[in-house]
Amino acid sequence: MRELVISKIKEGTVIDHIPAGRAILVLKILGINEKTRETVSMALNVPSKKMGKKDIVKVEGLFIKEEELNKIALIAPNATINLIKDYEIEKKFKVKLPEVVKGILKCPNRMCISNSKEPISSIFYIKTNGNEVFAKCHYCGRRIKELADYLL
Ligand code: CTP
Repeated sequence: MRELVISKIKEGTVIDHIPAGRAILVLKILGINEKTRETVSMALNVPSKKMGKKDIVKVEGLFIKEEELNKIALIAPNATINLIKDYEIEKKFKVKLPEVVKGILKCPNRMCISNSKEPISSIFYIKTNGNEVFAKCHYCGRRIKELADYLL
């Protein structure tokens, strides 16, 4: 089945193959809110051959930053990024899980030094186990899953 659920965009970024239900989190990562001026469209629970159901986010005029890509990879490891220029796909790539993230995840261990008053950014090592993505704190060794719950 090929159908266009939301219009094509002229210039900007399309984030495709987001796990169903995660598009709103992707908007949050991109800093999109009620003050945003750009045209943004989002499709939730779209039928997908590969994924069963998926979400899509399209933002006109957005040129995605490295840190945003890393955050999206943590919560949507199979997402595809399409950079659009003049209605054509100029570049298409899959997000890549970073090996280490700094200042992106909050350690749930209250005793962890990254949660002290010291100005120490959290550092986590990203690992996978099959389809599951997890992270291990550099400072206290705490392991976390469901990384969406720990995004700073
Ligand atoms: N797209 C868009 N505006 C454009 C061009 C493409 O919004 N000017 C969107 C399409 O609607 C689709 C995504 O970008 O959601 C990728 O487009 P395309 O590669 O043509 O689709 P597929 O072949 O289905 O992508 P994939 O192979 O990555 O599944």
